[in-house]
Amino acid sequence: MTHTASLKIDDKEYPLPVIVGTEGEKAVDTRTLRATAGYVAYDQGYGNTGSCESKITFLNGDDGILRHRGYPIEQLANHSDFVETSYLIIYGELPTAAQRKEFGLRLRQNAVVETQMQKILEGFPTSASPMAMLSAMVAALPAYHPQLANNNFEKDLKVFDQATAVAISKIRTMVAMIYRYQRGLPFMFPKQELPFCDNFLHMMFSEPYKDYVSVPEVTKALNLFLLLHADHEQNCSTSTVRMVASSSSNLFTSISAGISALAGPLHGGANAAVMHMLQSIHDEGDDGSRFIAAAKSGSKSNRLMGFGHAVYRNFDPRAKIIGQACGTLLSKLGIDDPLLNIAQHLEQAALKDDYFISRKLYPNVDFYSGIIMRAIGIPVNMFTTMFAIGRVPGYIANWHEVASNPKGRIYRPRQIYVGPVLRPYVPVDQRG
Ligand code: SDX
Repeated sequence: MTHTASLKIDDKEYPLPVIVGTEGEKAVDTRTLRATAGYVAYDQGYGNTGSCESKITFLNGDDGILRHRGYPIEQLANHSDFVETSYLIIYGELPTAAQRKEFGLRLRQNAVVETQMQKILEGFPTSASPMAMLSAMVAALPAYHPQLANNNFEKDLKVFDQATAVAISKIRTMVAMIYRYQRGLPFMFPKQELPFCDNFLHMMFSEPYKDYVSVPEVTKALNLFLLLHADHEQNCSTSTVRMVASSSSNLFTSISAGISALAGPLHGGANAAVMHMLQSIHDEGDDGSRFIAAAKSGSKSNRLMGFGHAVYRNFDPRAKIIGQACGTLLSKLGIDDPLLNIAQHLEQAALKDDYFISRKLYPNVDFYSGIIMRAIGIPVNMFTTMFAIGRVPGYIANWHEVASNPKGRIYRPRQIYVGPVLRPYVPVDQRG
């Protein structure tokens, strides 16, 4: 459905098409503005710019709505699991029983990471960033699966199902390998008979002669954590995946770039930053009040991590779900984590504080997720790699939208130049 807008510049009017999405979102299509009026649209950081039309995820930041292919996140969290939601996000429909079985089998068959890839890890000091190691390993996947990574959309789309299974399954295995490499532990091979999350926990925590024993509450919490991270519209890292994909880069190269973007503390790195924040509040014997006072200074380095969002001006629905799951898991495991109490106090205090209320700052997905991961036994420095495992289906679905778009173009934003104007070269002996 289209309408038209009209832009008046000086005494001239420029008609511009309006696009309306299936959920009523409206956009002014400014693609012709440069040719007709000699202007570009300016939106630093693209905070109010639609880069694409997408059918994957709908997000309404004002009302705190999140849906994947039309299904509310609350219903997926209650009734689905990470593998099924991954299928939905990638293929657009909930799988039939047969499709779910085939997809699960494909994931199990692609869980082993080539032994030679261990040498990539050995090129890193054990103290290196797990996200840097993960991005490097994923960037190497095309070398091990050249038939799945041709940098040619027509060829790559033909092998998309297999590339999808390799990406989802091996990135999960790589995270476990990084965890073991950093601790000098022998790698644990995946067990094909184990479901996705159980296999991950086995590869993380089993010992050579003593298998990790899965606890249903733990695998349920891990499934929920990954499901809640599976996709989130055009966030920083997903937009990076689309940017790289638009140059006809293969799926693995595009995901590797997305993982690098996700590592930033303002994005996927926030879950670890929240835990460091909660731990420092705990160690200082503070109840959070001093920290909230500092967070209101406005400086990026003092922010209340896990609070605020580039889109949500209401509760991040994922934060509500994961906050409830936190309490359930800890009580079932008999864990009394003082950091949970501090987090709950911070939330209650911030939600009554005009600084946060006036700026519509609410807890986001990262505020409680670290407490779940700590209860599972995941160390803080691995939190963002866990976010990456969860986000792979969203990266895959967005890569596919770019690769399969017959009218697609390479992403090439414009700019407004504000540097020095024309000036002649000055030989070095004549410079001041
Ligand atoms: C994720 O995009 C996505 O969908 C991301 C994500 C996903 O699933 O992919 O949801 C995952 O990245 C969640 C966000 C995780 N990051 C954090 O928790 C870091 C802490 N939050 C912030 O740094 C901040 O809220 C951002 C980066 C998330 C959003 O930044 P914006 O939209 O650019 O907001 P802003 O910087 O313009 O802030 C607006 C105002 C400012 O105050 P004023 O200049 O108006 O006085 O709010 C203040 C900011 O100083 N502010 C905060 C704050 N966040 C914003 N003040 C204190 N603590 C905070 N956390």
